[in-house]
Amino acid sequence: MCKTSTPSVPSQKERRPSRASARISKSGSKMQREEERDEDEIVCLGESFFIDRDYQLTTFNFGPHVLNLLCLHSASTDYDLTGQIVWPGAVLLNNYLSQNAEILEERSVIELGSGVGITGILCSRFCHKVVLTDHNEEVLEILKKNIELQSSSRNLSCGDNAGIPLLFETVESILRFRSGQCTFILAYVSRAKVMDVMVIDEAVHHGMDVKEVKDTRSIISNLEGVIFEITLKQTSEL
Ligand SMILES: C[S@@+](CC[C@H](N)C(=O)[O-])C[C@H]1O[C@@H](n2cnc3c(N)ncnc32)[C@H](O)[C@@H]1O
Repeated sequence: MCKTSTPSVPSQKERRPSRASARISKSGSKMQREEERDEDEIVCLGESFFIDRDYQLTTFNFGPHVLNLLCLHSASTDYDLTGQIVWPGAVLLNNYLSQNAEILEERSVIELGSGVGITGILCSRFCHKVVLTDHNEEVLEILKKNIELQSSSRNLSCGDNAGIPLLFETVESILRFRSGQCTFILAYVSRAKVMDVMVIDEAVHHGMDVKEVKDTRSIISNLEGVIFEITLKQTSEL
């Protein structure tokens, strides 16, 4: 599915040296000296210690569409840096979109939580205009680089976005703004049963109709994935 096409750039993982020092008071006892030494053993781990920028130019194939993108191949230790890798859900979504490209033709697309941008960039091959979003500064940096990497990125742009707990609020606003003419395509890969229920409940709570797209259930990285088409319920149905 994906292969590294160029050698990786040198790792920029940074490890700041620990500032360990022992201050021994002339008059203090051995115990006092040890306590003071413990207090003074400060290990300074800056933010950069947790950030891996060892991005690799990687080739992805979705049917006839070939995408070259910078990404990590394993997630950073920081839970908030999930966007540096390509997720199974994105692979599921891109396979679906490449097989059903006609649903994107002449459309404008906003992608919420783009990560390295693999889905938005694929969409830009078919769409009128695509806006990719993410809330993480570090992820936005690599997203912007990936947009620049594309030979034709005129219809691609990068925006900021508010909260994933707010995902369905954002989706609802967009759908209402377009008076129900929009469809939200959700590539959902199940990681926990509780999440499966939450996603559907949240959509229903926001007055949406969730339809599983036929024949889209598949196994992605040992997990079950499915495509949902989510639209606003017609007023008469509410
Ligand atoms: C699991 S990753 C998926 C990235 C990409 N869509 C993919 O499937 O490969 C979730 C992404 O959503 C972004 N994200 C999380 N919370 C967000 C928020 N509140 N607003 C915007 N983006 C958010 C994260 O920074 C991350 O890039």
